[in-house]
Amino acid sequence: MLPENELGSVRSHIVVTGGAGYIGSLLVARLLSDGHKVTVIDNLLFGGESLLTFFSNPNFHFFKSDVTDARCIKAAMRRDWPSPSAVFHLAGIVGFPACQAIGVQAANYYNVEATKSIFEQSQSVGVEKFIFSSTYSVYGMSRDDELVDEDSPLNPQSLYAETKIRAEEYLLPNGAMVFRLATLYGISPRTRFDLIINQFVLDAFTKRELLIYQRGYKRSFIHVRDVIDGLLLGLNQAKGTEKYQLFNLGTDDGTYTKDQIVQMVIKRLPDTLVDYKDLTFGGDMRDINVSFKRIKQQLGFTAAISVDEGVKEVVNALRLGLIREPNHIRYRNSQFIVS
Ligand SMILES: NC(=O)c1ccc[n+]([C@@H]2O[C@H](COP(=O)([O-])OP(=O)(O)OC[C@H]3O[C@@H](n4cnc5c(N)ncnc54)[C@H](O)[C@@H]3O)[C@@H](O)[C@H]2O)c1
Repeated sequence: MLPENELGSVRSHIVVTGGAGYIGSLLVARLLSDGHKVTVIDNLLFGGESLLTFFSNPNFHFFKSDVTDARCIKAAMRRDWPSPSAVFHLAGIVGFPACQAIGVQAANYYNVEATKSIFEQSQSVGVEKFIFSSTYSVYGMSRDDELVDEDSPLNPQSLYAETKIRAEEYLLPNGAMVFRLATLYGISPRTRFDLIINQFVLDAFTKRELLIYQRGYKRSFIHVRDVIDGLLLGLNQAKGTEKYQLFNLGTDDGTYTKDQIVQMVIKRLPDTLVDYKDLTFGGDMRDINVSFKRIKQQLGFTAAISVDEGVKEVVNALRLGLIREPNHIRYRNSQFIVS
C-alpha cells in the first residue's frame, strides 16, 4: 500500500481488465487522478486510442493481453511496483448481440471461464478486493411492474445475461464484489453508440429519424460517470463494514420507457421523424423496475447526472464534431466478430 492521498483514501496499485473500454477508460482516468497506480490489461478489441492520454503517466502501465491467458495477471506485473490490492474485471464480450454472434461456447469461454481464471490469478498475487461488472439484464422481465432487488429470482432472456449469472455464481461465494449495472449512456474516451440512449441520439442527429420498437418498454439508465462513482464507492468501502457483496448500480429516478427517452431526444433535435413499430423480437428484452435502494443505503450512492443532461452531452459532442466517425464499428460492440 502507498500513503494516503489528499482525498483520504489509500493509494494503491489497481488492475483494470478491459481498461480501454467504455467504462474502463473513464475508470482508469479517475483512479490515476485519485493517486493510484493502474495496470490495464486489454486486448484492444476496439483499439487503444482511449488510453493514449495516460501513456506518459508514470503511474500507468499497459499490458496487452487476452484475459483468457492463464498467466496474464502475473505477466502484467511490473517488478518495481507493489502487488495490486484490487482488480476491476470489466473485460468480456459485452451485450447480447455480441454474445449471440460468437455462440454459447465462446461466450462462456470469454465471460465465465476467463473470469474464474482472472479471479484465481488475482488471489494468487494477494489481491484483497475483486470487483466485477455484471448487468441488471440478469433479472430479465418482471411481472406486473413488480420492483426487483438483489434478492429477486433471476430470469435471464439472453446468452449474455446467462454468462454473467454463471460468473456471479462463481464469484459471490468466493468473496468478490459484484455490481449489476443498469444501461449506460454518455460520453467516454471509448463512447459506445450501441447503447439505447447514445444510439437514439446518434440516429436522430445523423439520420434525422428514429424507428422505435416496443415504445412502452422500460429500462433503468445510469450515466457512465455515475457508474465510475459507484464502482469507486465499492473500492473505497471501509474494511469490516461490508454487509453486502452484491449491488444493483443505478438510480431510482433513472427508469424510463423508450418513449420518454425519445421525447428527451426530440426536445434537443426537434427535426427528427419518429416511426413506431410494435413488433417483438428475440434478444435481451427488459421491462423491469429495478430497486437501487441497497447501493444508496449501504454505499451512500446517488447519481449526479440526469438522462436529460446525458442526452444534451451526447448531442453536444456530436454537434461539436468531437467524435469524427460516430457510425464507425469501433464505437459498437455488436458487429465485432471474435476471431
Ligand atoms: N455499458 C453498459 O451499459 C454495461 C451495462 C452492464 C454491464 N456492463 C459490463 O461492464 C463491463 C465493461 O463494459 P463496457 O461497456 O465498458 O464494454 P466495452 O466493450 O467498451 O469494453 C470492454 C473492454 O474489454 C476488452 N476485452 C474484451 N474481451 C477481452 C479479452 N478477452 N481479453 C482482454 N480484453 C478484452 C475490450 O478490448 C474492451 O476494451 C462489461 O463486463 C459489461 O458486461 C456494461
